[in-house]
Amino acid sequence: MDQSELIKVTINGTDFHVAKGARLIDVCREKSFDIPSFCYYADLALQASCRMCLVRIEKMPKLQTSCTIICTDGMIVTTQSEEIQKAQRSMLEFLLANHPLDCPVCDRGGECELQEQTFDWGNLEERFTEKKNYHPEKYLSPMVANDPQRCILCKRCTRVCDEWMGEQAIEAGNRGANTVIGTYGGWLNCSQCGNCIEVCPTGTLLDGTYRHQHRPWELNQTVSTCTYCSDGCQLSVGSRGSEVVRIVARDRYVNGLNGEFLCVKGRFGHPFINHPERIRTPLIRYQKGGKLVPATWDEALRFTARRLSEIKEAHGPNSIGVLGNPRLTNEALYSLRKLATDTIGSENYGTSDRFSLKPFFDNLGGPLATHRDIRYAKTIVLIGGEPEELQPLSGKQIRQAVRNGNAQFILINSVRIRLREQASQFIHIRPGTEDAAVLALANAADVELATRKMGVDVAEIDAARKAITETQGDVVIMFGGELSAAAQAGVAQMSQLFVGEGRRVLLHPLPLYNNSVGAHDMLRGGKEASTLLQDEHIRALILAGRPLLPGGDANEPTPNAEFVVLWELFLSEVSEFDRQVDVVLPAASFAEVDGTFTNNDGFVQRVRKAIEPLHQSKPDWLIAAQLANAIGGDTSFETSPSAIFREIGEHVPAYSGLRYPHLKDETNPVQVQHEIVAQRDLSNEFAILRKAVEAMDDTANKDQLTPGVGHELFKPGPLIEKTPQIHLLVAGNPKPENILVSPLYQISIDENLKREVAA
Ligand code: SF4
Ligand code: SF4
Ligand code: SF4
Ligand code: FES
Repeated sequence: MDQSELIKVTINGTDFHVAKGARLIDVCREKSFDIPSFCYYADLALQASCRMCLVRIEKMPKLQTSCTIICTDGMIVTTQSEEIQKAQRSMLEFLLANHPLDCPVCDRGGECELQEQTFDWGNLEERFTEKKNYHPEKYLSPMVANDPQRCILCKRCTRVCDEWMGEQAIEAGNRGANTVIGTYGGWLNCSQCGNCIEVCPTGTLLDGTYRHQHRPWELNQTVSTCTYCSDGCQLSVGSRGSEVVRIVARDRYVNGLNGEFLCVKGRFGHPFINHPERIRTPLIRYQKGGKLVPATWDEALRFTARRLSEIKEAHGPNSIGVLGNPRLTNEALYSLRKLATDTIGSENYGTSDRFSLKPFFDNLGGPLATHRDIRYAKTIVLIGGEPEELQPLSGKQIRQAVRNGNAQFILINSVRIRLREQASQFIHIRPGTEDAAVLALANAADVELATRKMGVDVAEIDAARKAITETQGDVVIMFGGELSAAAQAGVAQMSQLFVGEGRRVLLHPLPLYNNSVGAHDMLRGGKEASTLLQDEHIRALILAGRPLLPGGDANEPTPNAEFVVLWELFLSEVSEFDRQVDVVLPAASFAEVDGTFTNNDGFVQRVRKAIEPLHQSKPDWLIAAQLANAIGGDTSFETSPSAIFREIGEHVPAYSGLRYPHLKDETNPVQVQHEIVAQRDLSNEFAILRKAVEAMDDTANKDQLTPGVGHELFKPGPLIEKTPQIHLLVAGNPKPENILVSPLYQISIDENLKREVAA
């Protein structure tokens, strides 16, 4: 840091040079001076109500709240003295005046900030003998339970709900000593992220799905990476024996890229792990049209190897297609590619992702934006997508960049998504014209054609372009899955196009799955899944995870597939693949394996085994290795995730030199080095785009509806639908008659209603 930006502050007699503009509470903590606090929460608006963070500052008349003080040059501060301790003890006594002191029956007991600070800073005796206010414990939603008496009114919950989630679903009601945290109409119709639960320093807001089941010290806590979207949140898997019983964000004193943020999926979407419908043993269908019959691993592997060898013998190695699902670990996908290319010798392999990132990475003209870059960007451009529903951490970062960082946010979307409330410019385009937006921004010569098709004024694109090119600081360009390959290439090169003096242009793709980026990296050089599945020369398919392509369950194996092997967690009654599958192998879930996922920042993060693989399931990488051995006696496969990752570090250029020890510290994630290509001539891509844009309908009406909260988040998928409470949300989250009891025990959701609402 530039020395001229440093100022001198003296804390407890020691001089420190700190950044100009630093907040005193942060500086004291950074220099290892303990300061208690409840209401202060870094990166949220100040509340300054708990008065626990008191310090003495020379020349100031009274004790000061360090959370509200910005350091000035020459400031002399005392954090510990009899006077300060006495004030803090009094504050805690007041905070506890109406508290029921029922720690032995409180779910938060053992990991409660109020409990800890009372031990560290408070009196151990209570002098208040007045009658306390009484409010019964209740549910605020299927996910959020509430014991209002324990509240200390720090308002972390209300600020998080407003500033992170943009929802204002929870607020303080009543006045004075009767103030309570509550919600409109007594029921929470929100995105059910549970972040209000996570940040609550007391046992007031609690996980309604895990209530009264376990004490925190009975759980093993394993730090891992979320298995849902591509944001890659760090989380702590709480397990007891062989059961995963809860998931919370990282330990609140250590920050992963998401801090204490998780969305409804990451936090409440874990019951699939121990679900009774998990595939328990290998299954073989010995005859087409016959039943799947339980088998041993030995039988299933030998049967599969024999059928694959017969097909290879008859039709050649390229008659075997291999597809990896982007939910699998890098280690599994790398092993799968080896199985395809080295053991079988097939060029027909690929990732079965909903949209391919190949055109983007092949033309990558600048670095990937991290979530921190998004939070501190000066200008954010989002083309298509709906991150608040599909990549909720990215959505939260955009919201905070605007609300807490005054960033400009240019939203180009055919849907009036909720994030438009934060947009400084909303360019509302016709449905299906996202490609035209890329053409208009990237190629000035086509702006008139493109704007006509989008149904917007040329001036709107000019204003967006001006905002980008006048930015001093970071511009982040994000895009959703609507873009064609040529448009993705155009976005990837926008870094080169808009970069300038004092301006970085960073890119942030928004793929759908936890390891979409890793799957692209591990299976690079492969084929598009949709092409592979239409190839009539393919006679056998190895599916590591059910393909996640557009069209979902209606996708089918290739027209001439004689043999299909699938490894998965659950069988699906509606999937065409499952109807035609010949061998099913039970795969382990993310909670049962070691490995890595690569997120949309390009961060490669650890997945850690919280419980042993359930039933007879095996990690995906091991299934690939054992199948290779069964097919060709290929024993060249590494037999531990760390050894496979070392091999990835030797053979995948973006991961060059990486080893597990480099990934130990989640507070400091490692970004893989995707190759950045210099400015490219995109005339071919522009010609393709222009042709596509010319064919667009310029009479269609614009979509005027704003999609409801949760329309994507709550959508039942093979994993999230195993969380029983999700079905209540899908069915409109009805308020039960009795809010003292979980709605799960009061409202039964009819199967048809579930599917109807989901559709
Ligand atoms: S669950 Fe999330 S959206 Fe709902 S009230 Fe809590 S913080 Fe707000
Ligand atoms: S419910 Fe929790 S987070 Fe909200 S004000 Fe009360 S103590 Fe603070
Ligand atoms: S935002 Fe994405 S990565 Fe984070 S908890 Fe939600 S689904 Fe998981
Ligand atoms: S932390 Fe400073 S007043 Fe609450």
